[in-house]
Amino acid sequence: MIHMLDIAFSDASLPASGTIAILAVSGGAPAGALATLDAAVGGALTRAAKATGFGFDAAKTCVVLAPGAGYDRVILVGLGAVDALDGTVAEQAGVAAARALSDAGTSGVVVADGIAPDLTAHVALGVVLGSYRFDSYRTQPRKGDAGPLTAVTVACADPAAAQAAWQPLSAVARGVFLCRDLVSEPANMLRPPEFEQRILALRDLGVEVEVLDRDAMHKLGFGALLGVAQGSDAPPRTVIMRWNGGTDGTAPVAFVGKGVTFDSGGISIKPAAGMDEMKTDMAGAAAVVGTMAALAGRKAKVNAVGVVGLVENMLSGNAQRPGDVVRTAAGQTVEVLNTDAEGRLVLADVLWYTQDRFKPRIMVNLATLTGAIVVSLGVERAGLFSNNDGLAGHLAATGEQTGEKLWRMPMDASYLELLRSDIADLKNIGGRPGGSITAAKFLECFVNDVPWAHLDIAGTAFTSKATSHAPRGATGFGVRLLDRMVGTYYEG
Ligand code: BES
Ligand code: MN
Ligand code: ZN
Repeated sequence: MIHMLDIAFSDASLPASGTIAILAVSGGAPAGALATLDAAVGGALTRAAKATGFGFDAAKTCVVLAPGAGYDRVILVGLGAVDALDGTVAEQAGVAAARALSDAGTSGVVVADGIAPDLTAHVALGVVLGSYRFDSYRTQPRKGDAGPLTAVTVACADPAAAQAAWQPLSAVARGVFLCRDLVSEPANMLRPPEFEQRILALRDLGVEVEVLDRDAMHKLGFGALLGVAQGSDAPPRTVIMRWNGGTDGTAPVAFVGKGVTFDSGGISIKPAAGMDEMKTDMAGAAAVVGTMAALAGRKAKVNAVGVVGLVENMLSGNAQRPGDVVRTAAGQTVEVLNTDAEGRLVLADVLWYTQDRFKPRIMVNLATLTGAIVVSLGVERAGLFSNNDGLAGHLAATGEQTGEKLWRMPMDASYLELLRSDIADLKNIGGRPGGSITAAKFLECFVNDVPWAHLDIAGTAFTSKATSHAPRGATGFGVRLLDRMVGTYYEG
């Protein structure tokens, strides 16, 4: 059950009172609804903007309290320079409007009369994404909290056209919300079986869902994934989602996700400080689920498969030991020198299985794989690793558009040498230098040369402060990116 704000579109006639957020570009005299409103309040808006140095820069806001004519407040929201106005800017302005409305403790009207219908729809997307909250476990509202925004009306020049453009974007917003909800859930509430249940709900959208339990995975030889899972009382799952919106028989695009519902590190246990954050170690899987929901929700003309490996990495009398050797589905053996390098073990089996069974056109995996990627790229960009320049280019270019920015990392063959084991084909750690690169090289051993990319989202899946697209907490990183990449390059 996804709690998403309701968006309605109306014509640009202004309400007579209440709270209004009004969007306008920078430069030039006020026009359209802004000019009308400004006149109605005796020029109070232009005076307030001038007094505070507000110039309608992109995604900046200026709150004018009780400007007159019966309005409680008017929130001025900048769209920046008209030449630079695109979907991303429109979304960021929408996010800013949602924040200002939330702070005001009121739903209201967002006025976007001067822009094209598709940009209006992106404003709506921003408003919805900016309104996200995870309140499932609050029994009491926080002091001074007016509660979530529940309904926003977007006033615009052509409501019918904006509504039509919003239709597919609303499916994307649902996918992002689903992803954020999954990542936000505490690990006691979302172990692999509960995660499976959440995925089964995608059947309502026409997604085929298939589940591999421990026995099925054992038969397929998933020794690496099962080795990670064996220390937990929660049974592991691999869940396969299929959306068949494309031509029959066309090879699918495939998305694969790391779904470690909690990563204690196992016997190579993590330090106590911040260990709670490892409830988000399933963000790759959540992004895959959100993407599949988005594609199905907007009935994308593409064949897509999503495969997630769901395990809990725990300690017990039966937990995997450092030094254990496991056999992967691909047949290669791995010496597990550190049980905290578990994501690559899970993905090894799931990547191999996905390419072997579905023969995909492309395969993209997402994983909160390494702390080292946060050292390299911080929280601004996710690491992009690929064996294919075309696919890497599509991902990188799309990320610049959606704001889910990527940075390509090297994959020289020499890095693989660091993963040679004394007693098995591979070891699961390559030492501190280039830690996210050796992790990626490990994954590459299991993709059988299909065009593949790995996104290391350890730094971007979760944020301790609000960003231009997401409130503090789970970001939903990857959902808009993959949806847009499919739409641009692989659909139809
Ligand atoms: N899930 C972690 C990576 C991670 C770190 C995600 C910080 C999000 C924030 C991963 O399983 C892990 O523990 N990686 C180890 C690998 C090491 C043992 C080679 C790491 O990064 O320290
Ligand atoms: Mn780990
Ligand atoms: Zn992990």
